[in-house]
Amino acid sequence: MDWKNRVYCGKLTADDADKNVLLYGWVDAIRTHTNVIFIHLRDISGIVQVVFNDKCSAEVHDLARTLKEEFLLEIRGTVSLRAKGTENPNIRTSTIEVIAQELIIISHAKKLPFKISEKAMFANEITRNNPDNIDEELRLRFRYLELRRPSYQERFMLRQRVLQKMREYMFNNNFIELDTPFLTKSTPEGARDYLVPSRIHKGAFYALPQSPQLFKQLFMIGGFDRYYQIVRCFRDEDLRANRQPEFTQLDIEASFVDEEFIFKHLEALTIQLFALNGITLPSPFQRMTYAEAMERYGSDKPDLRFGMDFKDVTDIMANTEYTIFKKIIGNKGFIKGFCIKGQAETLSKNVLQNEYAFQIAPSFGAKGMTWMKVVNGELESNIAQFFSEQEKMQLMEWMNAENGDVVIMIADSSMNLINSVLNNLRLHFANRLGIIPRDKFCPVWITEFPMFELKDGKLNALHHPFTMPAVTDFDPKDRDELLRMKSKGYDMVINGEEVGGGSVRIHDSKIQKKIFQALGLSSDEAKEKFGFFLEALKYGTPPHAGIALGLDRLVAMIMKLSSIREVIPFPKNKNALCPLTLAPTTVSETQLKELGLNLSAFARKARSEK
Ligand code: AMO
Repeated sequence: MDWKNRVYCGKLTADDADKNVLLYGWVDAIRTHTNVIFIHLRDISGIVQVVFNDKCSAEVHDLARTLKEEFLLEIRGTVSLRAKGTENPNIRTSTIEVIAQELIIISHAKKLPFKISEKAMFANEITRNNPDNIDEELRLRFRYLELRRPSYQERFMLRQRVLQKMREYMFNNNFIELDTPFLTKSTPEGARDYLVPSRIHKGAFYALPQSPQLFKQLFMIGGFDRYYQIVRCFRDEDLRANRQPEFTQLDIEASFVDEEFIFKHLEALTIQLFALNGITLPSPFQRMTYAEAMERYGSDKPDLRFGMDFKDVTDIMANTEYTIFKKIIGNKGFIKGFCIKGQAETLSKNVLQNEYAFQIAPSFGAKGMTWMKVVNGELESNIAQFFSEQEKMQLMEWMNAENGDVVIMIADSSMNLINSVLNNLRLHFANRLGIIPRDKFCPVWITEFPMFELKDGKLNALHHPFTMPAVTDFDPKDRDELLRMKSKGYDMVINGEEVGGGSVRIHDSKIQKKIFQALGLSSDEAKEKFGFFLEALKYGTPPHAGIALGLDRLVAMIMKLSSIREVIPFPKNKNALCPLTLAPTTVSETQLKELGLNLSAFARKARSEK
């Protein structure tokens, strides 16, 4: 390859007119006009139009006639200014073209599974080929072809700039990039582990890290007081939107600091990262306690781009004659709701009653849903007549409900259920009504998380068990006290998405022991799982705190893309499968034997049924 003389298609400008150039690139698009063949030649830098006219030999011209999309070419030719009126603003090299003299087809391409070209060849044509119209499985199976699209190449170049900015920020602030092992022991982030069988130690397994949590804490004990790493993490968990089995974190830890240090640096960094795509984040970031987030939005990751925050109306309805509310209040239950501004006309009685009250709210777990509209200063609904004038007045005032607004209420004996239903309804209404401003960014720190939650009747650490509790003189056997306890954990949330999470850590082995006790882990179990770490804590551990940002989520948000699969070069699909390689796949008996593994009849049956 004549790489020394190669020039890039997208870098050519009018200043290159009359220069002889050598180009390597793929055929993006072709059109023929009488005896002249035009192609869009594409490389990593962009596209330039190449023309085969009477300036090239008959042999070259004949060869050009055989060209198909995505053939890879070597072309020598002369840069020429386009005739006035034939410029193509769809490409950056709009004012020039290359008049071809020589052509070599380096590689042929099979018939494509989908069109790659995004840039129209005519000025008045708009960009074509929206990837959203192509089946995602097919796109992922031929991901290398999709990666040829200019929009994807720009996307991954921006991801690269995000990584570079992170490294620059961390370096400038004296953080040291250190790496941690992938073949390791289970880490406690609450998902299932991906296991790797050991050949040398038959019957034993490494676990791929769910995060570098314990190792980064060991770095603090090891005296590195500012660590970071851009690191792959592995979690075998149920896949939801914006979850991948392997994903990347910007992982950070620092000693002799508190949460304010983390907030300060992470805000400054995040602002710089969003600025890479021209987005100005508000500063300082809002802060909200977990309790307030749950009370007002029913979620620990509230989307603050729009209102509709919740109001508790239990007191207003304390003496109501409306039977359903009366019964629930009699059972020490609650009534809570939100107001949707100016949507009374859009939300018909049919939609509110037959869709939301009968179907959507119950699908979120509610037994029913009450709605009212404000019309001519009065509350109107199928049940408005059961409320006193005073109740209606107070309700409108407390909900700030005015003409044209709709009030939604849920009554139940469980506040958790009410919050969860209202959260789902709030998001459902907002999406349906299109009231979420797409270009707004609302970062918020959620603080003062509970230390523990109940999962299947058992106490579980809400962040992870190395998070410092807000108080340390607790009784590890007092379940009620434990469930009331707050932690020094925090999350960074933007537009309803958890972008990062972290905490101040426990640096005292006695407190760590108490937390394990509270979690019902016997000292033998704790020793078996985390013995190495508990031992390390006993050797002069500094106070420390940290955080991890979900890099894929952050990059998708910066690029205003809805799925993290769009910003991961080779993602898994929604079933944790790689459509390109078809991993995970079976392995040979010999490999299994070497590892000392024998598939159970159950696993064999499951595979054969696939
Ligand atoms: P946490 O579990 O909150 O914290 O993870 C940090 C951030 O990583 C992102 N994330 C994911 N992104 C894509 N796919 C997934 N499956 C996935 N799971 C998590 C989220 C999340 O906020 N060790 C702690 C951090 C610490 O305490 O310092 C941890 O991993 O954006």
